[in-house]
Amino acid sequence: MEAVFPYVPLEERGWRMAMGLRPLDVAKWLEVDAKREAELELKRRLLDASYDVVVATNPEGDDASRELLDEVRANLATHHPGLATEVSAGDHPVVAASRLVQEDLCVLVRSDAWRLQAASVCFPSRWSLVTKIGTTLDDIHRPIPFYDDQLASPTNSFFDRLRPERSFWRLNWTLIDNAALHQPTMKRNPLQSDLSRWFFRVERQTLRRLARSGGVVFTIHNYVASAKEMCELHEDFGALLLRSLDSTPGPMQDYKGWRGVADELRTALSDADVRRRQ
Ligand code: HEM
Repeated sequence: MEAVFPYVPLEERGWRMAMGLRPLDVAKWLEVDAKREAELELKRRLLDASYDVVVATNPEGDDASRELLDEVRANLATHHPGLATEVSAGDHPVVAASRLVQEDLCVLVRSDAWRLQAASVCFPSRWSLVTKIGTTLDDIHRPIPFYDDQLASPTNSFFDRLRPERSFWRLNWTLIDNAALHQPTMKRNPLQSDLSRWFFRVERQTLRRLARSGGVVFTIHNYVASAKEMCELHEDFGALLLRSLDSTPGPMQDYKGWRGVADELRTALSDADVRRRQ
């Protein structure tokens, strides 16, 4: 099962807001799986057709982006030998780096605060890169209920304390009504109860401080499978998902687009767990 869907961050105790940072082994910084070729091809197409949607850079991010590209190439050469590391000289370094890996890449640089200064994000989960470039961690996260009270301060101090020798990773998940990796807008479909048309989407995120430039690199690797597939793969997925949806506070349900979803899916998710046990 692991190879099919590597992360299922649903907890018995239900939904909660947390930083959830864990130490990262840099050998596992960049993940490579069977979807690599298809995802790199999709990136190429998006970079050709919608460059200004998927890339945003300020000059303040150039130096850290060059260091990021060196780090990506060195990491691939060491931990994934055999994968291509050639780049085209015309690309901005954050784009060149992004073409080599399945991850989306964001570069933050400290000035008055930590600001997003370069990014290649082909696979956003309903947010727009162009509205975030140049802004601070607090402003990036402004739409998120409870973030300001609960996560803003620990996240800012985490960034200040992050050191090149100790990197971290975390998981974020959502349930979404569209399987596409590239979703730069908030468009939602009407509620419906078919498990094959709801998708469990997990973001594996990593955070690393760059030794030379002092910038921070934030990577996002997306994993998506339908709720139907997840019920087949993972014991008690239906019960765990229902518990998470039911225990999510109202404002967060609205932000995530989950209002009414648990009730719509309750019967289908319970039946799927029962079928799996038979
Ligand atoms: C320790 C570091 C971080 C923490 C704890 C954190 C936490 C969160 C949380 C809880 C959410 C709500 C997502 C959800 O549950 O659906 C979120 C969304 C988001 N985060 Fe972060 N985050 C971190 C770092 C970053 C960084 C470095 C970026 C840089 C690009 C970033 C960009 C975003 C964006 C764009 C969203 C969606 C915002 C929107 O809907 O407009 N995060 N983050």
